[in-house]
Amino acid sequence: MKLKYLLIFGVLMAVGCAAPSGDEIDQRVEELLSQMTLEEKIGQMNQVSGGYQFSDMIREGGVGSILNIVDPVEINAVQRIAVEESRLGIPILVSRDVIHGFRTIFPIPLGMAATFDPAIVEQGARVAAIEATASGVRWTFSPMLDIARDSRWGRVAEGSGEDPYLDVQMGVAMVKGYQGDDYSDPTCMAACVKHFVGYGAAEGGRDYNTAMISERALRNTYFPAFKACIDAGALTLMTSFNDVDGVPSTGNSWLLQDVLREEWGFEGMVVTDWNSSGEMVAHGFAEDLKDATRLSINAGVDMDMMSFGYIQYIKELVEEGKIKVETIDNAVRNILRVKFQLGLFENPYVDESLARQVAYAPEHLAAAKQCAVESAILLQNNNKVLPLKDAKRILVTGPMADAKYEQLGTWAFDGEEAYTVTPLDALRKDYDVVYVPGTTYSRDSSTEGIPEAVAAARGVDAVVVCVGEEAILSGEAHCLSQINLQGAQSELIKALNTTGKPIVVVVIAGRALTIERDLAECDAMLYSFHPGTMGGEAIADLITGRAVPSGKVPMTFLRDAGQAPFYYNHPMTGRPNNGTETLLNDIPIKAGQTSLGCTSYYLDTGYGPLFPFGYGLSYTTFEYSNITIDKSEYAVGDTIVVEYDLTNSGEYDATETVQLYVRDLVGSVVRPVKELKRFERVTLKAGETKHCRFELPVEDLAYWNFDMEYVVEPGNFDLWVAGDSASGEALRFAVN
Ligand code: NOJ
Repeated sequence: MKLKYLLIFGVLMAVGCAAPSGDEIDQRVEELLSQMTLEEKIGQMNQVSGGYQFSDMIREGGVGSILNIVDPVEINAVQRIAVEESRLGIPILVSRDVIHGFRTIFPIPLGMAATFDPAIVEQGARVAAIEATASGVRWTFSPMLDIARDSRWGRVAEGSGEDPYLDVQMGVAMVKGYQGDDYSDPTCMAACVKHFVGYGAAEGGRDYNTAMISERALRNTYFPAFKACIDAGALTLMTSFNDVDGVPSTGNSWLLQDVLREEWGFEGMVVTDWNSSGEMVAHGFAEDLKDATRLSINAGVDMDMMSFGYIQYIKELVEEGKIKVETIDNAVRNILRVKFQLGLFENPYVDESLARQVAYAPEHLAAAKQCAVESAILLQNNNKVLPLKDAKRILVTGPMADAKYEQLGTWAFDGEEAYTVTPLDALRKDYDVVYVPGTTYSRDSSTEGIPEAVAAARGVDAVVVCVGEEAILSGEAHCLSQINLQGAQSELIKALNTTGKPIVVVVIAGRALTIERDLAECDAMLYSFHPGTMGGEAIADLITGRAVPSGKVPMTFLRDAGQAPFYYNHPMTGRPNNGTETLLNDIPIKAGQTSLGCTSYYLDTGYGPLFPFGYGLSYTTFEYSNITIDKSEYAVGDTIVVEYDLTNSGEYDATETVQLYVRDLVGSVVRPVKELKRFERVTLKAGETKHCRFELPVEDLAYWNFDMEYVVEPGNFDLWVAGDSASGEALRFAVN
């Protein structure tokens, strides 16, 4: 049969043959499907973790996809079994969590989002695809599009933060980077948008927890990035572990059929998260694994990652009439289509020497460094301490100063720490460095090493303290109820500050930590989400002034974890705080019940965050002027033209991320206080002014309203052009 199949299509199992496209693929899918037994179909729907140990199963046609092997020799070996020894010779789709780089590790996705630079993010994904596909990995489980508004949730590290528009831009950039222009190009790695849906809204920021999200909030906030990435051609989608309003995503036919397939026209493949089908039993949504299998398949999930329910129970369920053969056929179509699109039938094997040749290529390292430079956020720079221009001798201290593994962050399975450049490595090239660790790792609560660091500080011109989080403190299943610096790190900073030396704190972490008390003990703070392989060089460039910070906050920094969830684009309340908050210790004894004004804020932390979304300083200053909109009234179908002048009024050539926000003043449902609608990185020489413009189609003001229709509701809007979400003066316009 295999031979027959090969002859029909004249397919050559050799490297370098052109892959088919469009109708031809559909035709080939149908032809292949018609030759498959039910068992072989079920096999395609089964994804397992591992390689050689599944040889027999692969030979029998029992495996459609493998995850977690990266050795090209092993990948070719299992592929050979599938292609040359199984009855139909269907290649395996090899997958891996390539989340922010494969060998060359880029900043974690939250750091990539802080660049507000889709171009560098796309480049990062391309680099990841080139390196991973060279090993034979043709499918990554990225981008993670989960909107996250609670930094206690460990997986904030893996996404683009709190804002739907930024999420769209970053997600689409990653999809384009992974998949390139041509699916069948051997360097195309299929993207997988995940986790559909609401996984980032886990109650209390506790991983895997329930998410209560209304359909309107799903549509306005959680869906847009998925829809945009699908429109951009994302080939696959992963369901989420959580339930939304009581229905686990893996068993949610409204999500997976009505919305995904029918409304959005998704033609790609849907995979479960790891055992998320089986976990519907623990959810109390399915009686047992067989029942969970029935629910997943009937909901529209094509492939089972690691619950083994599909391989065990589909046949029985079909025989019992609980699953239609037609449903199985559709799932298999979706899987085979991706394999054909990727050209796997033509090019199943990889050149085993390629992986080492492309790993850490100079241009990959350069892109990773640029991304790390752009992602670092300058949060404080008192007395213009940074850049450290005049310092000659510096103390480098702190547990993240020389932590090769830790600065790679979560999901850096394949990045080798030997290639990591730490801040210590890099700063040694610029300064006469004294290195005293102070504490040994981020959770280390011993203060024993602090006196030595303080003594060393007395003999230098400036101190660079690298603190933060080890990689393991963020990522999946690594949530925290308190998000201060761990261990004795704050004590270290405080002790160093007693020396009177300029103190520069570099935070290297997986989330937006609550660092208010640490800001008070330093002159400057540079915040770098785990910056990856080239993080040290990037940080050294920023500290010396060879590069100027341009990163912006992608997720609100809190004063205290108790403020979570906190995000800038929250719905307007009936009692917004008006800036007259009375704090805990200012309340008179026996104050009257209503004497504090009854507005929305906390008595201890006040209303505002520590740093708002979009915030980030530079070594220079930017002035916004002449901000205009071209009309005061618009009709749907018009485009709002916003013009402004941006001046670099400081001493450094630098880049500002200009942000455009709007507020829909009155809606049929309560609207967000502000929404990001556009952003642009503008690079200016010192003293230069540029006249710039945004174009915003009125249609971009549409939202899912009371009637659950996607419309622009007529009325007044405010618009801001500013350097962060809390600045600027509003301009008013109307839509008629
Ligand atoms: C579980 C995670 O939730 C998901 O994001 C990941 O892709 C899979 N495991 C596979 O490793």
